Amino acid sequence: MRSATATAHPNIALIKYWGKRDAALNLPAVPSLSITLDGFRTETTVRWGAPADLVQIDGRRVEGKEAARVLAFLDRIDPARPPVEVLSQNNFPAAAGLASSASAFAALALAATAAAGLQPDRQALSVLARQGSGSAARSLWGGWVVWDRGERPDGLDSHAWPLAPADHWDLRLVVAVVSGSRKPVGSTEGMIRTQQTSPLFPAFVAAAPERLRLAIQAVQDRDLAALGEQMERSTYEMHATMISAWPPVRYWQEGTVACLRTVEELRAQGVGAWSTMDAGPNVKVLCEAAQAEGVAERLREHAARVEVLRIGGEPRVE
Ligand code: PMV
Repeated sequence: MRSATATAHPNIALIKYWGKRDAALNLPAVPSLSITLDGFRTETTVRWGAPADLVQIDGRRVEGKEAARVLAFLDRIDPARPPVEVLSQNNFPAAAGLASSASAFAALALAATAAAGLQPDRQALSVLARQGSGSAARSLWGGWVVWDRGERPDGLDSHAWPLAPADHWDLRLVVAVVSGSRKPVGSTEGMIRTQQTSPLFPAFVAAAPERLRLAIQAVQDRDLAALGEQMERSTYEMHATMISAWPPVRYWQEGTVACLRTVEELRAQGVGAWSTMDAGPNVKVLCEAAQAEGVAERLREHAARVEVLRIGGEPRVE
């Protein structure tokens, strides 16, 4: 039996991934840009060659669909693998309003390949992690990360790459948790329904490359107003495709609108703060480090819990 432990961090997209050009391989319809977050992490230990398959998350044995997704991922690494134990621990609660699948599959890709005695490079690990959860492709690096759409049917050109390290630009992401309850429609189901039924989906796809180009330029120039605009536009364009799907995929709640309005009010008062949202009701706000506490204070009026997070999150194998 061989064992390995790895740590990876969640990431939040500024230019959004929504829709798949290949559902089985998790190949995205659009390219995306994210920041990896410091502080929150998933630590995963894999024992390759155990008495029987076992998947344990946060001290609880998981079975059914959740375990099957992890075991199918291990089969991609080696279809003739021995029984494997996966022990995974998050230091952030599900109620923190951040998806744990990105850090989970990035940590699993690192730990499982190391335990299997393989030495893939980071690009190959990104391709592998992508097949567990699309956004996991981006958690193989800390800091500012781009995930290419790629053109190849086998997906080998659809991996992430590091645009800039965490210390390139000291911003903060303020996460306003409007609701910590499980989302009614998961991201894969939501994406498939959206691309099959929303007449707006082709417009979202068509706009994405230019959004990404302008956002990359803004990161390089450290121009927060330019980046904030591209981030908000990408978010609203994505949510417009969701809301116009049938039946609608509507994640927004009353608290969501209150937080979005607060961010606009802050901007009108001269505070450089911009919002983004994912497949859920929570609002994440990008701002300068010096203004993060003030932004958090205002959002606490509408959100049950507010976290201020730094950019960072380089993954590692112990
Ligand atoms: O990787 P998934 O299947 O959890 O999808 C993530 C989708 C969004 O969070 C809405 C956008 C993104 O780019 O992370």
